[in-house]
Amino acid sequence: TITRAVGREILDSRGRPTVEAELELDDGRIVAASVPSGASTGSHEAVERRDGDPARYRGLGVRDAAAAIGAEIDPVLRGLPAIGAVIDRVLLELDGTPGKSRLGANAVLAVSLAAARAEALVAGVPLWRHLAGPEPLLPLPMVNMISGGLHAGRQLDFQDFLVMPVGAESYRQALEWTGDVHAALAEELAARGHSLLKADEGGFGPALGSNREALDVLDAAVERAGRALGSEIAYAVDVASTHFHDPAGGTYRLRSEDRELSASGMVRLLERMVAEHPVISIEDGLAEDDWEHWPELVARLGDRVQIVGDDLFVTHPARVRRGVETGAANAVLVKMNQIGTITETAEVVELARAHRFATVISARSGETEDPALADLAVGWRGGQIKIGSITQSERLAKYNQLLRIEEALGDAAVFAGPSALGRTS
Ligand code: PGA
Ligand code: ZN
Repeated sequence: TITRAVGREILDSRGRPTVEAELELDDGRIVAASVPSGASTGSHEAVERRDGDPARYRGLGVRDAAAAIGAEIDPVLRGLPAIGAVIDRVLLELDGTPGKSRLGANAVLAVSLAAARAEALVAGVPLWRHLAGPEPLLPLPMVNMISGGLHAGRQLDFQDFLVMPVGAESYRQALEWTGDVHAALAEELAARGHSLLKADEGGFGPALGSNREALDVLDAAVERAGRALGSEIAYAVDVASTHFHDPAGGTYRLRSEDRELSASGMVRLLERMVAEHPVISIEDGLAEDDWEHWPELVARLGDRVQIVGDDLFVTHPARVRRGVETGAANAVLVKMNQIGTITETAEVVELARAHRFATVISARSGETEDPALADLAVGWRGGQIKIGSITQSERLAKYNQLLRIEEALGDAAVFAGPSALGRTS
């Protein structure tokens, strides 16, 4: 039984406030959970409640959201069983708004995640095992190497250039190869006279001339690391094109290349990228409300490339359903704070799976040291995980948790591999 709920304002990896919740059980044990925060957010995401008081953290404080946990959520949770689904239903009812704007999706999710953790604690097993049923699955990681867009001062138009160690036979080996490529990339960038400064998710944020140059440098880094391009290491790109799309004119403005493209021009650009480099996953290649053109992208590339909707779907069942019906993608980026409860996030994973859409369980650019994302990815059999770079402890909290889970599973550990990628047949 839950006996107490409290919230507090803590800091995320960008040094901005975020919410942590604590639940106390009747036996005195306490569970805590904290929530991430995005920078390149989709406009249809659940509402992150911020104080708006310019005297503190430039208006980004979350004292009101944190206080709502003690003042409003605590009284309704007291005496309830530590069952995540039950608590999530109560939270939804109490908030009463579609975007969780009253209590704040940040307050709601912190409590929801703590409740999932409390349920596992009562069951006496780790969160991943509690969620997993008989067949936990270690996800194929999608690891940030080079950042642009809103995460790196718009040095490049595209937001993330990531590697996927598709040839690895285990999660541990996937991480080893990724570490080698990361080290080789640092050498390669230095050899070319670029800065090694880090972006928000810990990837490098060099001032390269074009999106294409980012992939050229990555090719050289993979070669330097002695890995086979394509069969061992392939690429994912998060274009995050919502953030350089002009909704009025319907065009895409590539600043680094001084070009303005139509949606079809973007599709052609992405086709060329796939022809020249082993890119096997493209996220938000078109903007969040460009529903009209997403099917064109799938028609041109979906048979061999994973087409992922992030801002497009915002982890919302209605938007995922529309994507299924219109053939707008073949994979869903899953971010729990886009929807706001663990129950609803799990439902979106199920929905995607039911329609043969792949899922990528994803962190945000602003993260905390909470490792839960790793547990959720394994327990839900998400297939793929996107956490950022392998530097910075808010990311390693998740990467290292996956190592622990793999070790705990021993011979029973199953690693997803490339079959987890979305494909349109
Ligand atoms: P965000 O970026 O957390 O800043 O939204 C991550 C992503 O776009 O995938
Ligand atoms: Zn994205």
